[in-house]
Amino acid sequence: MSEILAALHRDHRNLGQLLAAMERQLTRFDRGEAPDYDILQGVLDYCLTYPDLYHHPKEDLVYDRLRHRNPAAIEAIGDLQAEHRTLAETTRRFGAALRSILQEAEFPRESFARISRAFLESYRRHMAMEEGTFFPAARAHLTAADWTAIDAEMKAQKDPVFGGTSEARYAALRADILAWAKEED
Ligand SMILES: [Fe+2]
Ligand SMILES: [Fe+2]
Repeated sequence: MSEILAALHRDHRNLGQLLAAMERQLTRFDRGEAPDYDILQGVLDYCLTYPDLYHHPKEDLVYDRLRHRNPAAIEAIGDLQAEHRTLAETTRRFGAALRSILQEAEFPRESFARISRAFLESYRRHMAMEEGTFFPAARAHLTAADWTAIDAEMKAQKDPVFGGTSEARYAALRADILAWAKEED
């Protein structure tokens, strides 16, 4: 079994926690309360960096190998690289909406809610497909040599929120996640 898949799965769990933190703030927003914008900003900053720069490129490498190893397995997955580009675009759209709601008095609240939910849902859908279809196919078809080759292509990268020393700009987000994790224990 591949350590790489285990790491990608861990990324999904971390992202799932971020999206849950985001959803809690969107629920406040929907109720007409003020969300914690530092948390929403933290989710945005994270998604603009870690997944787009590290997580998705790793998956793209796995996907490339799988396409060569077993083209039939790719059909159920679809065009993963295109989906990653769409997600990056959805993330930027959420970023623009967040900037607007913070800076423009006129920006419609429903637009912010709709764009934010679209971002949240597309991330969740994408990860569910990967967990349910892509990862099992990679696990089933890739050989030990494939994984060694993929590993060699990856550079070790540090995760700014969930890595050992998290960056100061993610402090609010991290505190929120830890508080909720405690509550769920
Ligand atoms: Fe992905
Ligand atoms: Fe993923």
